[in-house]
Amino acid sequence: MIEFDNKVAVVTGAASGIGLAMAKAFYGQGMRVVIADIERQALTEASACLNDPTRVLAVVTDVSDPKAVDALADAAFESFGSVHILCNNAGVFVGGASWECSDADYRWLIDVNVMGIANGIRSFVPRMIAAGEEGHIVNTASMAAMTTMPFSSVYCMSKAAALSLSECLFKELEALAPQLGVSVLCPELINTSLASAQRNRPDQYSQQGDLTDTEMSKMTEQAISEGIASGIDPSVMAERVLQGIKVKKFYLLPQDGWKKAAMIRQDEIRQEANPTFTYVE
Ligand SMILES: NC(=O)c1ccc[n+]([C@@H]2O[C@H](COP(=O)([O-])OP(=O)(O)OC[C@H]3O[C@@H](n4cnc5c(N)ncnc54)[C@H](O)[C@@H]3O)[C@@H](O)[C@H]2O)c1
Repeated sequence: MIEFDNKVAVVTGAASGIGLAMAKAFYGQGMRVVIADIERQALTEASACLNDPTRVLAVVTDVSDPKAVDALADAAFESFGSVHILCNNAGVFVGGASWECSDADYRWLIDVNVMGIANGIRSFVPRMIAAGEEGHIVNTASMAAMTTMPFSSVYCMSKAAALSLSECLFKELEALAPQLGVSVLCPELINTSLASAQRNRPDQYSQQGDLTDTEMSKMTEQAISEGIASGIDPSVMAERVLQGIKVKKFYLLPQDGWKKAAMIRQDEIRQEANPTFTYVE
């Protein structure tokens, strides 16, 4: 079992929500933590919550940029000598019918939710393998990877890719570097700032001239916002991650209606029945 004390964790999307909760949990276990986020001010505030500056390194990073993630890895290894836990967690959301979401919506979610994880894997895993030490990679997907929802197609698609990438990584490391474990975190509804993800939408994914502000996208984003506001505390996810790493558990899932919805989907696939919409309370 990996020992946390004095080891090094890197968390992306660490200035808010689930990422910040994970950073606090690792710090609480005596780890040194590298926190990365695209939102500079929020990252500075997050860093201030972790009292001992000798155990914290904050690096403004856009995970969709491979060079920025390489620079993050350089900073982490140069500052702390090693990386034992990598959490590819940064993520964003858009809603709307699949034919109404713009090219920029699709590219933004693929670049952050999928390539953000791929960039983390490409920049960190070779160095973690070379170090030969025990370690763990946690990728944040979503229950939206295991269930599908209308008017959240771009998000569901990106999270399905994150899940698939994580399963492949698990099998690859099991074969080639079994000292490195992999988990995929599939949160249910968690009370974070995900519904206002547009606050971090770079200009290159400009919404100008987009169809993004349709009635359907507004309705979905409102529903997601309400669902998230009544969601559970992000610290529950941090605890799920700590326990998962300890026992090298791959699927980190809720045990509620969301899991049931995922099972219904799997049954539909098994039976070749048409997909139904499962409302999760
Ligand atoms: N909140 C939920 O209900 C829920 C459910 C399932 C999955 N998730 C996933 O959990 C992860 C964390 O989201 P959250 O709910 O804590 O939301 P959040 O908005 O509170 O935190 C996400 C963080 O990612 C950062 N970020 C956005 N784009 C980035 C980029 N290009 N590079 C680096 N950082 C970037 C944001 O600045 C923010 O600090 C995401 O992958 C999200 O999809 C959340």
